[in-house]
Amino acid sequence: MSFNFSKENLQKIEVLKSRYPSPQALSLPCLWMVQYQEGYISLDAIDEISRVIGTPSMEIYRVATFYTMFHLEPQKKLNVQVCKTLSCKLCGSDEILEHLEGKDVNIVHVECLGSCGTAPVMQIDDVNYENLTPDKVDEVLKELK
Ligand code: FES
Repeated sequence: MSFNFSKENLQKIEVLKSRYPSPQALSLPCLWMVQYQEGYISLDAIDEISRVIGTPSMEIYRVATFYTMFHLEPQKKLNVQVCKTLSCKLCGSDEILEHLEGKDVNIVHVECLGSCGTAPVMQIDDVNYENLTPDKVDEVLKELK
């Protein structure tokens, strides 16, 4: 299956080219554009990013596979990223993880989500859900399904 950026995204990339110090630096915003456009990042999309910004596909692939927030396959279930770093751990992330294990979601253990003061934290589709309790997790999942 081939991939093409939308006209709007191609225009955004042209604007960004003048703002970024190197083509490689454009990999991240381009990966986000693909994910927002298609819901996931296919190998064809990586090749298209490569062609558009002039960076080898392998470099873009390495970036896409390094970060846990990028999906390389279509997501059949809700992707729930749960912080397992110290503040969240001390504030109950283990209980949140245990609670999520019985749910029909993909659980991804991630490092700090940058919201330590409101631990424990999970992230779904770029939105942080903070000060979690099992009840709050249920409320969030109910809203999103
Ligand atoms: S430690 Fe969990 S958000 Fe920072």
